[in-house]
Amino acid sequence: MNLLIAERMQSVTPFYVMELLQRAQELQRQGRDIIHMEIGEPDFPTPEPILRAGERCLRERDIKYTPAAGLPELRQAIAEDYRRRHGVSVDWRRVFVTPGASGALLLAFACSVNPGETVMMADPGYPCNANFLRLLGAEARWVPVGAATAYQLNAALAGEYWLPRVRGVLTASPSNPAGSVLHEPELAALIAETERRGGVYYSDEIYQGLEYGPPLPTALSFSEQAFVINSFSKFYGMTGWRAGWLVAPEACAESVERLAQNLFLSTSTVAQYAALAAFAPETAPVLEARREEFRARRDFLYAGLLRLGFSVPLPPEGAFYVYADCRAFTEDSLVFARDLLERTGVAVTPGLDFDRHAGKYHLRFAYTASMDKMADGLTRLEKFLCR
Ligand SMILES: Cc1ncc(COP(=O)(O)O)c(C=O)c1O
Repeated sequence: MNLLIAERMQSVTPFYVMELLQRAQELQRQGRDIIHMEIGEPDFPTPEPILRAGERCLRERDIKYTPAAGLPELRQAIAEDYRRRHGVSVDWRRVFVTPGASGALLLAFACSVNPGETVMMADPGYPCNANFLRLLGAEARWVPVGAATAYQLNAALAGEYWLPRVRGVLTASPSNPAGSVLHEPELAALIAETERRGGVYYSDEIYQGLEYGPPLPTALSFSEQAFVINSFSKFYGMTGWRAGWLVAPEACAESVERLAQNLFLSTSTVAQYAALAAFAPETAPVLEARREEFRARRDFLYAGLLRLGFSVPLPPEGAFYVYADCRAFTEDSLVFARDLLERTGVAVTPGLDFDRHAGKYHLRFAYTASMDKMADGLTRLEKFLCR
């Protein structure tokens, strides 16, 4: 037993993808040509107008703390974006700028979940959520989902898996790792079911904007009591800047602010000034072009994986991942991913990070590499499968 380490650390799970990433980087340092399809961040640089805003801030401003809730002008710009995109009116005082969606998830859970409670979420899903809850003495209530419900929870599943200590329901649309989405009727019904049972709805909308069908709804259109989590990381291409936001119910605003003061003091000042340019008119075409590029990559990778014999029951509708069933080739995705990397230099993520019930049979391919690189990756993968 290590006396320096608290008991709770036994339940905080590591990422297999990190092991794969480290090995991929080591191989790269040794001179191997590695194709990265394991990483959950866009390969594009931060859009130029956002970079310029960040530079201007560094040159012209004193980089001091901002208010814990964020720059008022950024909170207002985020609220205005909800009006423009979704036609919903959100009081900007309910918007809190956070260090990424990670900070928003922590604030939302810390504000509303009691020790001993659980939050229902889809399995497969983003693994950090369960670890945030564990830090708070709470737990994830995983609900196994698959193609039959588009890898999402729905109102019937919420009813079936509800227990007295369920505090609420968390969804991500588009989702990680499946890239699946919740359309308006399903989202509205799930929120209504959650609230009918006295639960809290948590909507992780970090991949919004990266949807390849009709625009997706925000939970704010259906509930003023939901916590809505979002970020500048993915659609706005700002992963390393560490800026995101939380929209909290009005009754929680004071508590969330108090938590933010204690946990973060403030989100990076430079990142906040840069993020203001995310909503500038000159940034919109850059983001739109990137969405189109992601759509083309999605089509290419999805078709390529099907051709090689992977099973992907639903074409992903958003984010930048294809979650492929690899049972035609292996029943151990971790061994497969390690082997694939060593022999071919193609890095992908085993489903085990995301999926307790079927992770061994799945691989997550991220289309965060250029078309040429993905084409090369698929050729190498084909050779590997035929060996
Ligand atoms: C579903 C989901 N939520 C939240 C996050 C956290 O992102 P960030 O803290 O960079 O905004 C991620 C990152 O990959 C994610 O996939």
